[in-house]
Amino acid sequence: MPDPFRLWLRDRCGSTNDEACRLGEGGAGSGAVVVAGVQTAGRGRRGASWFADPADSLAMSILWRPHAAKPLWPRLALATGLAVAEACERHIPLAGVKWPNDVWINGRKVAGILVEAGADFVVVGIGINVNTRDFPAEIAGRATSLAVECGTTIERAALLAEFISRFACHAAQIESGFSAIVQGVNHRCVLHANTVEMTSPSGRLGGRCEGVGPGGELLIRHHNGRLERVIQADDVRLCRTGR
Ligand code: BTN
Repeated sequence: MPDPFRLWLRDRCGSTNDEACRLGEGGAGSGAVVVAGVQTAGRGRRGASWFADPADSLAMSILWRPHAAKPLWPRLALATGLAVAEACERHIPLAGVKWPNDVWINGRKVAGILVEAGADFVVVGIGINVNTRDFPAEIAGRATSLAVECGTTIERAALLAEFISRFACHAAQIESGFSAIVQGVNHRCVLHANTVEMTSPSGRLGGRCEGVGPGGELLIRHHNGRLERVIQADDVRLCRTGR
């Protein structure tokens, strides 16, 4: 692990995000990486549970104490998504980033990211389907793994190391240098030029996605021509492919 990252291996735990949060509350320094062998209560966004096949996936959480001001911390989601995509690209030509927190390959989700903030730290949880071949029926149509997509078994430790080195780079760019993250995300934006729908704090909205703006916001062109800058949204659905 490059400085300041340190591995905390847990054979078995509930959620690595909770473990990393406990480390943060106990005063641990930025860069603690909790990796679970088995995660018994892994969770996703909006209260969903997270399926992680123990031997074939990566479930980890990074304790991070950003130098940037707190309002910029949510940018870590895009920084992390880009880092995961780039790590995957050691094995496939191009991975997609689905704003705000997912990584897709060939229209299916290969990784999810859950960012949770404490008082003076952030926990960035990452679940990657690495060598998984069989998914539970309820997600089988939407999920994929890196191994399925590239046709070979992937060494998880090498993928973890590659991801950490990309995360180290992008986590340092959430203040100055964020344009490089936005550029990387736009290059991989799976929503771009597609019709999308989502639930934002101001209600349901939809339109044609024009990519990600300079602050990391999603740019949505309404049917009436107005451009909306969406800072936060749940349940972003791709309705119609435009390219
Ligand atoms: C999502 O797509 O909804 C986010 C999924 C995040 C899953 C990871 S697995 C490691 C970390 N620990 C958790 O409990 N969740 C995240």
